[in-house]
Amino acid sequence: MQIAPSILSSDFARLALEIESIKNCDMVHIDVMDGHFVPNLTFGAPVVKCIRKYTELFFDCHLMISNPLKYAKDFANAGADLITFHYESDDNPKEVIDEIKRLGCKVGISIKPKTKVEEVYPYLDMVDLVLVMSVEPGFGGQSFMAEVLDKVRKLKELKQKENKKYVIEIDGGIDDKTIHLAKEAGVEICVAGSYIFKQKDRIETIKKLKAV
Ligand code: DX5
Ligand code: ZN
Repeated sequence: MQIAPSILSSDFARLALEIESIKNCDMVHIDVMDGHFVPNLTFGAPVVKCIRKYTELFFDCHLMISNPLKYAKDFANAGADLITFHYESDDNPKEVIDEIKRLGCKVGISIKPKTKVEEVYPYLDMVDLVLVMSVEPGFGGQSFMAEVLDKVRKLKELKQKENKKYVIEIDGGIDDKTIHLAKEAGVEICVAGSYIFKQKDRIETIKKLKAV
């Protein structure tokens, strides 16, 4: 299992050190919220640019914003490696995908718990990653919604049947127990925020999660 710790649950005043404490992860998950698409605010591209100087880890930027088309460039310039936008945002998904690719980043498409997975089928050949939300986006520390695993199963089946290239990521409520459910359903990358950052030994915690 690949592990993407979400720095949403870290101490923002010590960001560089917090990232150092998770350095054996597969990628750093950066939750960008605009207070409009979701009822919470986090950080923007300037923060990503600052932390880029302290690590060479892969940056997985999860844009929970209404206008990804407008801001994708800022995140690419700040050092994002992968930019994931929400299918439910205000912009045309095809245009956002084209823009993110044009900027030289990998592209992911994300769906909220209530969105049917079939809605993103038209885009599956164009993206590197599909992010299935297992909580309502907006806040860390919520409970895992096991019902979204049906979407993961469908994505896995389609991927195998049609030899598609996207990887399947899940985000929200992942801990040492729910990660097993995600694994069984076909998830390849697990985002985990509060579970990892509440641990003293994060390196060891990530090691254990990766072994799942
Ligand atoms: C929710 C964010 C998640 C969140 C995960 O809107 O996209 O990445 O931080 O946090 P936990 O693991 O605490 O559910
Ligand atoms: Zn996220």
